[in-house]
Amino acid sequence: MVYPYVLPKLLYSYDALEPYIDKQTMEIHYTKHHQAYIDNLNKALEQYPDLQKKMLVDLLKEIDQVPEAIRTTVRNNGGGHYNHSLFWRYITPCIGQGPLTKVSAALESEYGTFDAFKELFIAKAKSVFGSGWAWLCADKNKKMVIISSANQDAPIMTGYEPILGLDVWEHAYYLKYQNKRPDYIAAWWSLIDWAYVETEFEHKTL
Ligand SMILES: [Fe+2]
Repeated sequence: MVYPYVLPKLLYSYDALEPYIDKQTMEIHYTKHHQAYIDNLNKALEQYPDLQKKMLVDLLKEIDQVPEAIRTTVRNNGGGHYNHSLFWRYITPCIGQGPLTKVSAALESEYGTFDAFKELFIAKAKSVFGSGWAWLCADKNKKMVIISSANQDAPIMTGYEPILGLDVWEHAYYLKYQNKRPDYIAAWWSLIDWAYVETEFEHKTL
Protein backbone atom coordinates (compact mmCIF):
# COMPACT_ATOMS: atom_id res chain seq x y z
CA MET A 1 0.00 0.00 0.00
CA VAL A 2 1.36 3.39 -1.07
CA TYR A 3 0.23 7.01 -1.24
CA PRO A 4 -2.41 8.10 -2.17
CA TYR A 5 -4.10 5.44 -0.10
CA VAL A 6 -7.52 4.09 -1.10
CA LEU A 7 -10.05 1.69 0.39
CA PRO A 8 -9.20 -1.92 -0.49
CA LYS A 9 -11.99 -3.71 -2.32
CA LEU A 10 -14.28 -5.72 -0.06
CA LEU A 11 -14.60 -9.30 -1.28
CA TYR A 12 -18.20 -9.61 -0.03
CA SER A 13 -21.30 -7.45 0.30
CA TYR A 14 -22.15 -5.49 3.46
CA ASP A 15 -24.88 -7.96 4.40
CA ALA A 16 -22.85 -11.10 3.61
CA LEU A 17 -21.69 -11.57 7.20
CA GLU A 18 -25.20 -11.48 8.69
CA PRO A 19 -26.23 -12.43 11.31
CA TYR A 20 -22.78 -12.35 12.91
CA ILE A 21 -21.90 -8.83 11.75
CA ASP A 22 -24.85 -6.73 10.57
CA LYS A 23 -25.07 -4.84 7.30
CA GLN A 24 -25.23 -1.35 8.84
CA THR A 25 -22.16 -1.92 11.01
CA MET A 26 -20.21 -3.25 8.03
CA GLU A 27 -21.18 -0.33 5.82
CA ILE A 28 -20.35 2.34 8.42
CA HIS A 29 -17.18 0.59 9.54
CA TYR A 30 -15.88 0.29 5.99
CA THR A 31 -17.14 3.46 4.28
CA LYS A 32 -16.89 5.87 7.23
CA HIS A 33 -14.35 4.66 9.79
CA HIS A 34 -11.86 3.03 7.48
CA GLN A 35 -12.27 5.80 4.88
CA ALA A 36 -11.62 8.43 7.54
CA TYR A 37 -8.28 6.80 8.47
CA ILE A 38 -7.32 6.87 4.80
CA ASP A 39 -8.37 10.50 4.30
CA ASN A 40 -6.52 11.63 7.42
CA LEU A 41 -3.39 9.70 6.42
CA ASN A 42 -3.38 11.15 2.89
CA LYS A 43 -3.90 14.66 4.25
CA ALA A 44 -1.06 14.27 6.75
CA LEU A 45 1.33 13.17 3.98
CA GLU A 46 0.31 15.90 1.52
CA GLN A 47 3.34 18.06 2.24
CA TYR A 48 5.83 15.18 2.60
CA PRO A 49 6.79 13.83 -0.87
CA ASP A 50 9.59 11.67 0.55
CA LEU A 51 7.16 9.89 2.87
CA GLN A 52 4.65 9.46 0.05
CA LYS A 53 7.14 7.19 -1.71
CA LYS A 54 7.42 4.81 1.24
CA MET A 55 5.29 1.72 1.69
CA LEU A 56 2.81 1.98 4.55
CA VAL A 57 4.42 -0.97 6.33
CA ASP A 58 7.76 0.87 6.32
CA LEU A 59 6.21 4.10 7.58
CA LEU A 60 4.73 2.16 10.49
CA LYS A 61 7.81 0.04 11.21
CA GLU A 62 9.87 3.25 11.31
CA ILE A 63 7.25 5.43 12.93
CA ASP A 64 9.90 7.13 15.11
CA GLN A 65 11.48 8.53 11.93
CA VAL A 66 8.28 10.23 10.82
CA PRO A 67 8.47 13.99 11.54
CA GLU A 68 7.04 14.80 14.93
CA ALA A 69 4.48 17.22 13.45
CA ILE A 70 2.58 14.34 11.80
CA ARG A 71 3.84 11.31 13.75
CA THR A 72 0.75 10.80 15.91
CA THR A 73 -1.55 11.30 12.92
CA VAL A 74 0.39 8.78 10.83
CA ARG A 75 0.53 6.35 13.74
CA ASN A 76 -3.23 6.46 14.37
CA ASN A 77 -4.48 6.72 10.80
CA GLY A 78 -1.75 4.72 9.06
CA GLY A 79 -2.27 2.04 11.70
CA GLY A 80 -6.03 2.30 11.19
CA HIS A 81 -5.70 1.80 7.43
CA TYR A 82 -3.23 -1.07 7.80
CA ASN A 83 -5.21 -2.88 10.52
CA HIS A 84 -8.58 -2.57 8.81
CA SER A 85 -7.21 -3.67 5.44
CA LEU A 86 -6.20 -6.90 7.18
CA PHE A 87 -9.40 -7.15 9.19
CA TRP A 88 -11.67 -7.37 6.13
CA ARG A 89 -9.54 -10.20 4.74
CA TYR A 90 -9.54 -12.23 7.95
CA ILE A 91 -13.29 -12.77 7.70
CA THR A 92 -15.50 -14.42 5.09
CA PRO A 93 -19.11 -15.41 4.50
CA CYS A 94 -17.83 -18.88 3.50
CA ILE A 95 -17.83 -20.27 7.01
CA GLY A 96 -17.73 -23.73 8.44
CA GLN A 97 -14.05 -24.51 8.32
CA GLY A 98 -11.36 -24.65 11.00
CA PRO A 99 -7.64 -23.92 10.86
CA LEU A 100 -5.84 -25.62 8.00
CA THR A 101 -2.81 -27.88 8.20
CA LYS A 102 0.11 -25.60 9.00
CA VAL A 103 -1.71 -23.17 11.30
CA SER A 104 -3.37 -26.07 13.07
CA ALA A 105 0.00 -27.75 13.69
CA ALA A 106 1.62 -24.49 14.84
CA LEU A 107 -1.21 -23.72 17.26
CA GLU A 108 -1.14 -27.22 18.71
CA SER A 109 2.61 -27.03 19.07
CA GLU A 110 2.43 -23.68 20.87
CA TYR A 111 -0.79 -23.99 22.89
CA GLY A 112 -1.40 -27.74 23.16
CA THR A 113 -4.83 -27.71 21.56
CA PHE A 114 -6.78 -25.41 19.27
CA ASP A 115 -9.36 -24.88 22.02
CA ALA A 116 -6.63 -23.77 24.43
CA PHE A 117 -5.45 -21.21 21.86
CA LYS A 118 -9.00 -20.03 21.26
CA GLU A 119 -9.58 -19.54 24.97
CA LEU A 120 -6.40 -17.45 25.33
CA PHE A 121 -7.19 -15.35 22.25
CA ILE A 122 -10.72 -14.63 23.48
CA ALA A 123 -9.41 -13.71 26.94
CA LYS A 124 -6.93 -11.30 25.33
CA ALA A 125 -9.68 -9.71 23.22
CA LYS A 126 -11.96 -9.32 26.22
CA SER A 127 -9.14 -7.78 28.27
CA VAL A 128 -8.48 -4.86 25.90
CA PHE A 129 -9.35 -1.76 27.91
CA GLY A 130 -11.11 0.79 25.74
CA SER A 131 -10.31 0.70 22.03
CA GLY A 132 -7.84 -1.71 20.47
CA TRP A 133 -7.15 -5.03 18.84
CA ALA A 134 -6.30 -8.65 19.69
CA TRP A 135 -3.80 -10.40 17.43
CA LEU A 136 -2.22 -13.74 16.69
CA CYS A 137 1.27 -12.86 15.46
CA ALA A 138 4.65 -14.32 14.69
CA ASP A 139 7.42 -12.82 16.78
CA LYS A 140 10.93 -12.18 15.42
CA ASN A 141 11.82 -15.84 16.06
CA LYS A 142 8.69 -16.86 14.11
CA LYS A 143 7.06 -18.14 17.27
CA MET A 144 3.28 -17.73 17.60
CA VAL A 145 2.19 -15.13 20.16
CA ILE A 146 -1.13 -13.60 21.19
CA ILE A 147 -0.91 -9.86 21.80
CA SER A 148 -3.18 -6.85 22.06
CA SER A 149 -2.59 -3.37 20.70
CA ALA A 150 -4.10 -0.11 21.93
CA ASN A 151 -6.00 2.29 19.71
CA GLN A 152 -4.85 1.73 16.09
CA ASP A 153 -1.31 0.63 16.86
CA ALA A 154 -0.26 -2.05 14.39
CA PRO A 155 1.71 -5.13 15.50
CA ILE A 156 4.49 -4.32 13.03
CA MET A 157 5.28 -1.19 15.06
CA THR A 158 6.58 -3.46 17.80
CA GLY A 159 8.18 -6.16 15.68
CA TYR A 160 5.29 -8.61 15.38
CA GLU A 161 3.96 -9.92 12.08
CA PRO A 162 0.16 -10.30 12.19
CA ILE A 163 -1.46 -13.57 11.18
CA LEU A 164 -4.99 -12.95 12.49
CA GLY A 165 -6.52 -9.93 14.20
CA LEU A 166 -9.77 -8.81 15.78
CA ASP A 167 -11.00 -5.22 15.97
CA VAL A 168 -12.55 -4.70 19.40
CA TRP A 169 -13.29 -1.00 19.02
CA GLU A 170 -16.92 -0.32 19.91
CA HIS A 171 -17.49 0.95 16.35
CA ALA A 172 -16.99 -2.67 15.20
CA TYR A 173 -19.95 -4.04 17.16
CA TYR A 174 -21.93 -1.48 19.14
CA LEU A 175 -24.96 -1.16 16.82
CA LYS A 176 -25.76 -4.87 17.12
CA TYR A 177 -24.12 -5.99 20.33
CA GLN A 178 -24.12 -2.75 22.40
CA ASN A 179 -21.93 -3.37 25.46
CA LYS A 180 -21.74 -7.15 24.92
CA ARG A 181 -18.23 -7.40 23.52
CA PRO A 182 -17.95 -11.14 24.40
CA ASP A 183 -20.98 -11.91 22.17
CA TYR A 184 -19.35 -10.05 19.27
CA ILE A 185 -16.07 -11.90 19.82
CA ALA A 186 -17.90 -15.25 19.81
CA ALA A 187 -19.77 -14.30 16.62
CA TRP A 188 -16.60 -13.10 14.85
CA TRP A 189 -15.02 -16.46 15.57
CA SER A 190 -17.54 -18.07 13.20
CA LEU A 191 -16.40 -15.84 10.32
CA ILE A 192 -12.65 -16.44 10.29
CA ASP A 193 -11.23 -17.18 6.85
CA TRP A 194 -8.81 -19.92 7.84
CA ALA A 195 -7.60 -20.34 4.26
CA TYR A 196 -6.41 -16.72 4.30
CA VAL A 197 -4.91 -17.18 7.77
CA GLU A 198 -2.99 -20.16 6.43
CA THR A 199 -1.50 -18.06 3.61
CA GLU A 200 -0.61 -15.28 6.03
CA PHE A 201 1.05 -17.81 8.31
CA GLU A 202 3.08 -19.22 5.41
CA HIS A 203 4.00 -15.74 4.26
CA LYS A 204 5.03 -14.50 7.70
CA THR A 205 6.75 -17.56 9.13
CA LEU A 206 8.08 -19.89 6.41
FE1 LIG B 1 -12.53 -0.68 13.25
